[in-house]
Amino acid sequence: MFSFSFPTSVSFGPGVISQLPGYLKQHQLNRPLVVTDSLIKELPFFRKLMEDLRSQGLSPLVFSEINRNPIKSDVLKGKAAYQDQCDGIIGIGGGSSLDVSRAVALSINHHEDLFKYDGLTGGTDLINAAIPYYITVPTTAGTGSEVGRSAIISEDDSKRKRILFHPSLMAKQVFADPELTYGLPPEITAATGMDAMAHHVEAFLAKGYHPMCDGIALEGMRLIWNSLEKAVLSSDEGARSDMLMASLMGAVAFQKGLGIVHALSHPLSTLLDMHHGLANAVNLSYGCAYNQTVCEGQFKRIAWQFGLKQGQTVHEALMEMNYRLGLPTKLSECGVKEDHLYDLSNLAVKDFCLPQNPRPATIDDIKSIYIQAL
Ligand SMILES: [Fe+2]
Repeated sequence: MFSFSFPTSVSFGPGVISQLPGYLKQHQLNRPLVVTDSLIKELPFFRKLMEDLRSQGLSPLVFSEINRNPIKSDVLKGKAAYQDQCDGIIGIGGGSSLDVSRAVALSINHHEDLFKYDGLTGGTDLINAAIPYYITVPTTAGTGSEVGRSAIISEDDSKRKRILFHPSLMAKQVFADPELTYGLPPEITAATGMDAMAHHVEAFLAKGYHPMCDGIALEGMRLIWNSLEKAVLSSDEGARSDMLMASLMGAVAFQKGLGIVHALSHPLSTLLDMHHGLANAVNLSYGCAYNQTVCEGQFKRIAWQFGLKQGQTVHEALMEMNYRLGLPTKLSECGVKEDHLYDLSNLAVKDFCLPQNPRPATIDDIKSIYIQAL
């Protein structure tokens, strides 16, 4: 027996952000806490949005003191900013802003230590109080966190990643406007886009029965294969739209699970502060090569989606895609050294994504993949 859930309400399309003020008024959300990062806060679209909200009689409060890899104290500061004066939360940004906004939403009526709610230590059962009205607005096409139900937040000192997870943490409404991604620099577009690709590929290969997620993953990876290069090299508007949709679909698909690529990548962000998308972009090809022998049938279907020639493997094609996008194909190009591999492997083998990988991996397997990727 299985249960499936695809409930998030999404408004999608160029210009759809203009519907936000009316939506807030309709739902009597007069003083939302807007959680974003310090770069987005200064962008023209953000300033205009805040002006539009104010001109319609709303009083948004902006909170932007967050780290690139968010930590607990970011969330506590956001909670303090909310106090009793706000009536909802809007997360605007990439994965970090959306993770913090979701964790702030959790923290408002849950007063134990934040990590008591860690889903990997049984904390999900403690999430039973009301969550403030929560809206998400993505500005990158990668994490798909706008439709997610989890937030990854690190401990301040150890930087260990903790996961807060509950269905009630899903946004009530997503405004996914491709126009907000038009100005993203090529390297961010490429890295976040390959994160979305990793979500589809890993979800499709993950253990478990979920034909709905498998179908979404196959279509999502086809969209990315056909549009990411255009989005990176020419900022083509149609390609930007397809990428935002594919990114959102990725987070729906990975309800099924992720795998070894994310398990390899998480420690690179934790220990070396590497960008999550960049880490996945490099690891994806090596992770696929590792899984090749146990997933022949799935890789044939991926190859068909990509339109690969007879004999061309998916992991080679993904490596070539990195070259075309100007992304690194080796961890050594990203500052990783052999000395780091012991600590990285120790963390990766315990990563919460590894159990869903179709091929089991010991610490020695992981170390040998890191060595190949180095
Ligand atoms: Fe990811």
